[in-house]
Order: sequence, then C-alpha cells, then structure tokens
Amino acid sequence: MSTTPRKHIGPLRFGIVGCGGIAALHAQCLKTLLEEGVAQLVAGADPNPNQRAKFTETYGLPAVATLEELLQRDDVDAVTITSPSGLHGDQAIAAARAGKHVLCEKPLDLKLAKADLAIATAKEHGITLGGIFQQRFAAGPKKVKRAIEQGFFGDIVLAHCETPWYRSQAYYDSGKWRGTWALDCGVLSNQSPHMIDRMLWLAGDAVDVLSASCDCGKGRTIEAETVAVATARLTSGALATVIGTTLAFDGMPQRLLICGTEGSAQFTGDDLTYFKTSRPFEPDAVMPEAIPVASEVAENRSSDPLAMSHQGHLDNIRDFALAIREGRAPLVTGEEYRKVTRVLNLIYERAGAGPFGKK
Ligand SMILES: NC(=O)c1ccc[n+]([C@@H]2O[C@H](COP(=O)([O-])OP(=O)(O)OC[C@H]3O[C@@H](n4cnc5c(N)ncnc54)[C@H](O)[C@@H]3O)[C@@H](O)[C@H]2O)c1
Repeated sequence: MSTTPRKHIGPLRFGIVGCGGIAALHAQCLKTLLEEGVAQLVAGADPNPNQRAKFTETYGLPAVATLEELLQRDDVDAVTITSPSGLHGDQAIAAARAGKHVLCEKPLDLKLAKADLAIATAKEHGITLGGIFQQRFAAGPKKVKRAIEQGFFGDIVLAHCETPWYRSQAYYDSGKWRGTWALDCGVLSNQSPHMIDRMLWLAGDAVDVLSASCDCGKGRTIEAETVAVATARLTSGALATVIGTTLAFDGMPQRLLICGTEGSAQFTGDDLTYFKTSRPFEPDAVMPEAIPVASEVAENRSSDPLAMSHQGHLDNIRDFALAIREGRAPLVTGEEYRKVTRVLNLIYERAGAGPFGKK
C-alpha cells in the first residue's frame, strides 16, 4: 500500500457524512469552492430520513442512508465527516480503506487509540487525512505563531485557555448524542477544542496533564462534564491551564493568554486583543487591532453553537483540497489533530471521568 497521499486534479468531489447543523456550513463553503474550481459537493449520507430529504431539497443532490453507500460512489473523491464526534474515527477509517480522502470535523475521535488508527489507516491507503480547526486560519493566530517562531516572545512561561460558554438544556436535548460519553463528552471535547488547539499550536504540545477535575452532569441532565479545570506542562516549558463550562450565563467570549518573557498575546474569541513584544515585530504590518477577523462577540457563538462566520471553514476546506492537488500536507494534519484528542484523554484520565473512569 502507498504511504504518499495521492494527488487529485480538478475540483475535489466531496460527500458529506452527517447532514446536520455544521454540515450546512460545509455545503455553503463547497458552493463557493466550486466557483473557484477547487472542490464541490456531490452527495450526502445520513441515517435520518428527514435530514436526507432536507439535504436533497436544499442542494438538489442525492442523499444516501449509510456511509457504505456513499463510499461506493465513484463520483466521491473525499468525505467531510460532520457526524456525532464519537463516530469520527471509525468513519475516517472506513473512508480511508475505501480510498477516499478524509476531512474530519473536530475532534478526530474521542479516543486517542481510534484517532491513531485513523492516522495509520490513512497513511496505509495513501489518502490525505485532515481536520477542521478553522480558527487557525484567522490572521491573529498566524501573526502570533510567526512572532513566537522568530523568537519575539522569548521563553513562553504560561498559557491559559478558557471557554466560559452557555448551553441550555434544550441544546443538549436537541440531539440524543449530545452530552453522552460515547458520542460527545462535555465542554472540553465539544466546546473547547479550538482554543486548546490554538494553545498547543502556539505554546507547544502537552508533555503531561498535571491535575484535572470535571463536574459531570452539573446543572444539566447529561452524562458528561459541564465544568472542568485542568493544568498541564507544555513542551515549551510553560505551565498551562484549561478551564471551561457550559453553565456561564449568558456565554462569555473564549479567551487565550500566551505569556512569554519577551512578548505576550491575548485572544478574545478569534480576535487578537493584546499583542506586545519587547522588540518591534513586523512594524510595517497591519496592527492586530485592525486585522479583520470575525468577532466571536458579534457572532455570539458563546451561547449559539451555529452563530459563526463561514470564513474559517472556507479557508480550512480550501487548504485541504488544494493540499491534495498540490501534493502537500494540509495545515491541519491528522497528527496535529490528535494532539488535542491526546490532551483531552489525559485530562479525563486524570479526572477519573468520561470513558476512562467514574465521575
Ligand atoms: N468546527 C466547529 O466549529 C464545529 C461546530 C459545530 C459542530 N462541530 C462538530 O460537528 C459534528 C456535528 O455537530 P452538529 O452540531 O452538526 O450535530 P448535528 O446533530 O446537528 O448533526 C449530526 C448529523 O449526523 C447524523 N448522523 C448520526 N449518525 C450518523 C451516522 N452513523 N452516519 C452519518 N451521519 C450520522 C445525524 O442524523 C445528524 O444529521 C460534531 O462532531 C461537532 O463537534 C464543529
């Protein structure tokens, strides 16, 4: 079997796996990417007949009941997996075995072993496996990444990421998979991965999780955590904290602090709201305050899961499709994706929560 991902000429033809909420955003992006000649949507798969009917009515495209049927289609080059999180790994593995490229919504899987198997299977079958961390594509994170890589932040000593969001009981009741250990987990796995990814991307991967506590089922009738606090040591040597809740009325913006001996930054949602370095960094470039990024505050994502700009997803899906065409790795590789799953698994293990232990 090949270990080098295959190139693809012409628009990459996608099948969507799971035609629910976020799938609509993927479909919207694929419409734009068809105009660019980069990618297109050709079919969907969903076990729910109502979702299939809605998909066909909205996009005028076929929707099948199972992933297997979708994978048998010759007009599908790649799948974008937008199903419940606990299904991602198995579906990615099945698609890779069928020779389809795989773009997977976060997280790659809830369990690290499954995420690793998906990465290994993708390599074995020579397909590209990529993830959706759309917030990486905003201008602010890229600027901070450049500054850190060029030494403008000195030693990173502390990182802190927080997700003080609000999700009602009605939100959890809107899908049977929501808040379950098997298919979703809680605020850490569902709402926090983007900020955790950004923290690891900028301040270094986790060496280990040092402490963790999860309050499971607090305030909502779900299995998983609605409040969580963890500390970790990162490869940069920094200490890090991760905190999150879905009970913070009425949902405050996410925040990330990166603190270095020569430079520090703060993100409020996607916006870079603080950036200072001891030596001037890119003085002629656009100042962070003026970088046009979608503001989480304006989008109100903190209390509405689908209130988001499609720009990040558009950039993310375009990068994935072009990566295949150009024979390069996408920005969000399977290996990058697994880092977040690994940290989440370490946190749950340390807290004795989730699929790894009692609450
Ligand atoms: N990147 C982001 O910012 C972002 C935002 C929202 C959701 N997500 C992720 O997207 C995924 C879906 O979330 P959602 O809010 O759209 O959920 P949703 O419940 O609205 O949609 C999930 C869909 O998957 C379908 N489904 C269930 N079992 C399936 C199966 N075996 N095969 C194919 N389809 C199946 C359901 O019928 C439903 O239509 C989650 O993993 C979530 O973490 C990511």
